[in-house]
Amino acid sequence: CNYMVEKSRGEVIDTLVEGLQRLEYRGYDSTGIAVDGDEPGKTLIIKQIGKVAALKKEIERVNPDRTIPLVNHVGIAHTRWATHGEPSKVNCHPQRSDPENHFVVVHNGIITNFRELKTLLTQKGYTFESDTDTECIAKLFKHLYDSNLKDGYELDFNELTKQVLMELEGSYGLLCRSSNYPGEVIATRKGSPLLIGVKSDRKLKVDFVDVEFPDNDGKVPEEPIPSKTIGTSSLASNHVNDTERNLFTPLAVNETALRYSQSRAFLSEDDIPIPIEFFISSDAASVIKHTKKVLFLEDDDIAHIYDGELHIHRSRREIGENATRPIQTLEMELAQIMKGPYKHFMQKEIFEQPESTFNTMRGRIDFVNNTVKLGGLHSWIPTIRRARRLIMIACGTSYHSCLATRAMFEELSELPVSVELASDFLDRKTPVFRDDVCVFVSQSGETADTMLALNYCLERGALSVGIVNTVGSSISRVTHCGVHINAGPEIGVASTKAYTSQYIALVMFALSLSDDRISVIDRRTEIIQGLKKIPEQIREVLKLEETIKRLSSDELADQKSLLILGRGYQFASALEGALKIKEISYMHSEGVLAGELKHGVLALVDENLPIIAFGTRDSLFPKVVSSIEQVTARKGKPIIICNKNDDVWNKKKQSIKGLVTLEVPQTVDCLQGLINIIPLQLMSYWLAVNKGYDVDFPRNLAKSVTVE
Ligand code: G6P
Repeated sequence: CNYMVEKSRGEVIDTLVEGLQRLEYRGYDSTGIAVDGDEPGKTLIIKQIGKVAALKKEIERVNPDRTIPLVNHVGIAHTRWATHGEPSKVNCHPQRSDPENHFVVVHNGIITNFRELKTLLTQKGYTFESDTDTECIAKLFKHLYDSNLKDGYELDFNELTKQVLMELEGSYGLLCRSSNYPGEVIATRKGSPLLIGVKSDRKLKVDFVDVEFPDNDGKVPEEPIPSKTIGTSSLASNHVNDTERNLFTPLAVNETALRYSQSRAFLSEDDIPIPIEFFISSDAASVIKHTKKVLFLEDDDIAHIYDGELHIHRSRREIGENATRPIQTLEMELAQIMKGPYKHFMQKEIFEQPESTFNTMRGRIDFVNNTVKLGGLHSWIPTIRRARRLIMIACGTSYHSCLATRAMFEELSELPVSVELASDFLDRKTPVFRDDVCVFVSQSGETADTMLALNYCLERGALSVGIVNTVGSSISRVTHCGVHINAGPEIGVASTKAYTSQYIALVMFALSLSDDRISVIDRRTEIIQGLKKIPEQIREVLKLEETIKRLSSDELADQKSLLILGRGYQFASALEGALKIKEISYMHSEGVLAGELKHGVLALVDENLPIIAFGTRDSLFPKVVSSIEQVTARKGKPIIICNKNDDVWNKKKQSIKGLVTLEVPQTVDCLQGLINIIPLQLMSYWLAVNKGYDVDFPRNLAKSVTVE
């Protein structure tokens, strides 16, 4: 949005389109923009499925008059990665309130109560044109605007937004522009990132003004406006907490941070509005070209921009909350932003896992009521429950995520579950029947072997489920139903964050299948509460990086071979850890089922062969300890991945010279693999970096193997 900076409409469109191009690396299936229309107060929307290049062509086709001069202008744009509804033109954002485009919205995230909202708004006469959850936000804006107006209240854009947000459940990074509020824009977030870049040719005298209560007891000077609710929100009985209106007035100008709630963010020397542009985005990559001065919004912030001023409000007022929003200077260039502070995409993706695992669960798990709802599977669950058996089919890391969750799946669903490597499944011409459910797990959604296995199962009439990261990919389109793991694009060839997200998606799938089984209520609750803590626990394990880096450059640096022992839930971790090490450090490594040790592998063990063993606590712990004792009895010096402050390992460390432990947080047995794999991801990364290999693009391997 720009103020007192004259731009032609063509320039504004170009800025938006270029911003979208900067986000291309994240992956998406469709795009769209909304800018001022030909007549004052009108909004022009242009959308297209596919890449930004396709949107550019569509803009050329629509051929809007590029010369129209725009001052005090707001344009919004979006790249979409479908969560509700196929990638199609009508489902692209911006979504609108009505054919006159009174309110237009772009949105990241998921509105979990959109069905209820849709039903209510439909009853109130709104006609929905898309399958998206976002459309109900635009319509809600209009509905609440109109009904307030009918009651004689002309709300400002911020007040209206607060009423809208009270009705929304789920997550959002949201922008709204409206012909009812020309030249204004709202940006608000909950669970999805948003930042605001600020650009002005004139030097800003102060970044922000301090704000204070007009009277000391903080009483509200006016009656608050009664709330407008449409009756679905759990907050419906509350009044909109709009006591902030007129509550704050700018007093001091000595702060460099924007304080809670209100007031003018930018003043020139003489308090006269200055030419200024704001760039709001979910990703610094699309802002950096214009300005390096940014502030990051936090959950429940509502940024309201008008007349060249930025006002930040809170949608809910939490007492005692520190709500400063400092302006920060981005020191990075574009390439760095994409990789963040990391040297390689793989390292970035490993460190993204606290967020990516959260994103997989976001909007799907209700941690209060211990329920799980997967939109893309929900209506199929009764059919899946009636299946004769479940066959999980995948390749590489995706196959390991199936192995890791198989026991939990069998336990919760009480269905026989087999796990198949796609190529072997096809080679054996495995019998498949109409009452089988086949689950295809794939990061890319394009792996040829997995795709061929999918076609094979479809020909035999089985029900197919996709667990896929890439929206719009072949597997996500061809399967009957499925779950997007929402891990975000994975660029490093060695899969890391996709693994943990696939794992969680499969756990959520099993939880959905079992929500009718009384006998597993406690177990389900334990798993759901365990999932809640996973992102934080992963954050904690990542702190082991320095120790692992040291191990990789000392003990393990010149080794030719490595064994990884695991049992039960940790067998998959052993296989996946060994695969990671092979893939990028080119060191021979083998995942070994600890129970099989004595049937052959033990012959390899001596004082020189490096061994890593999973010794975290679960029901098989005594057996694992015994396997590790077999190793130490042959002078092996294993590195043990164990839980924090575990007495057994502490004692063994004292008695066995050279025994090293890597301590990780404990979680529910069937989720422990999510935590245990992180040290091995880090180890493979540092082994490869130390050897000077191309971590993101290892020799002979491809991210997506689209040939048999
Ligand atoms: C390739 C990649 C692996 C990946 C496997 C399966 O081999 O290098 O990282 O695990 O394909 O890929 P998918 O996209 O189906 O998960």
